[in-house]
Amino acid sequence: MTKKTFPDNFIFGAATASLQIEGGDRNNSWYDWCEAKKIPNGDHCIEANDHWNRIAEDVQLMKDLNLTGYRLSIEWSRIQPTKETWDEAAIQHYRDEIIQLKQAGIEPMVTLHHFSNPSWFEKQNAWLNKECIPLFLAYTEFVVKHLGDLVSHWVTINEPNVYLMMGYFVGIFPPGKEGDIKSYLKGAKHMIAAHCQSYTLIHKLRNDIGKKDTQIGAALHLRVFDVSKHSFLAKISQKICYFLFQDLFFNGMLHGKWFGRKLHKGTFFDYLGINYYSRDILKPNIKAFPIFADITKPEGCEVNDLDWEIYPEGLARVIRKYYEKCKLPIHITENGIADSIDQQRKKYLHDHLNAVHTCIQEGIPVKGYFHWTLIDNFEWMEGYEARFGLYAHDVATQERSLRASGKYYSKICKSKQLLPLNT
Ligand code: FCB
Repeated sequence: MTKKTFPDNFIFGAATASLQIEGGDRNNSWYDWCEAKKIPNGDHCIEANDHWNRIAEDVQLMKDLNLTGYRLSIEWSRIQPTKETWDEAAIQHYRDEIIQLKQAGIEPMVTLHHFSNPSWFEKQNAWLNKECIPLFLAYTEFVVKHLGDLVSHWVTINEPNVYLMMGYFVGIFPPGKEGDIKSYLKGAKHMIAAHCQSYTLIHKLRNDIGKKDTQIGAALHLRVFDVSKHSFLAKISQKICYFLFQDLFFNGMLHGKWFGRKLHKGTFFDYLGINYYSRDILKPNIKAFPIFADITKPEGCEVNDLDWEIYPEGLARVIRKYYEKCKLPIHITENGIADSIDQQRKKYLHDHLNAVHTCIQEGIPVKGYFHWTLIDNFEWMEGYEARFGLYAHDVATQERSLRASGKYYSKICKSKQLLPLNT
């Protein structure tokens, strides 16, 4: 059998988000949300993985996995605890972490916004308040001025589509609004503008210090929407889903477009960041506004602990489709599985990396893969119940232990080869 080898400079990484792993911060929208007992099982993000106090230990875990990349996010509420104050010690903490990563041969990819907002920002209506744009730019500037010499890869905003859908439509993220399509669109417009302007600003700030290797993107949650049967309504529904959930953001953040109109001059991705997890099957239903379908799964399909379909071919489909549209390098900024007993993760890794490898063979420049996630963490809706980690985590003791699938991934990272499942 011929070996499936990845390019020499391919980044094998893991992804995390500050709120989900750090613990200890009481100044953000998710702390408030947990305090209000909004996580169905009562879990609280205040402990998480205590990563804030365990940087050296966790960098060692990454080294043991042979990672060459790590996607982390900065907690805005730590950096700007009130609208008027900036915390030098907090940004220095991230600087130290990044230095440790680089010393370990691990390239950081830094996300500026990953779902959580400072409490003061949330209280003034977060991304619905027009002021979010200058505020996000001031925060961008502060972070890039402190870390810009060390970090070349940036993600401005993580999954604006999921953030807004869950917060303003489904109502299970803060601020818990339901069916508010107007707010969804208003937030989308602001987040797109914030991304475009932040992109320009990061380039300028890094250029000013002579850095020519800047790579900026956003991490877009991209799914496959297939239909349960072919009909006129099914087609309309599919178009609405693709547009409202993904292409509005893709075209907005890449081209500065809003409903086809160019609002920002230029292009605003150096690479496309794809978060891929699963697909939906749309079952037409005229009463289901605004998508005119019920979201279902193929009957009898394999699912993870959260009942999401496991569909590796979807990753290849998403890569091919969006590469055609943008012709930019691609990073898989998230991909992973909730699998508490670690029975499916190894095959999941194999099959999704196989999809990535196939796309690379076809000539698509996929540059990196960041597995979600390093250690079981605090998940936004399931708290500590959804276990996505390459390392298992004991919430009571904070102990981390490598899963068999993590060991398999570490061998792939080391050999840069898609190793057979019996490895
Ligand atoms: C994504 C989020 C990430 C994590 C995974 C499971 O939508 O970006 O923080 O929760 O889902």
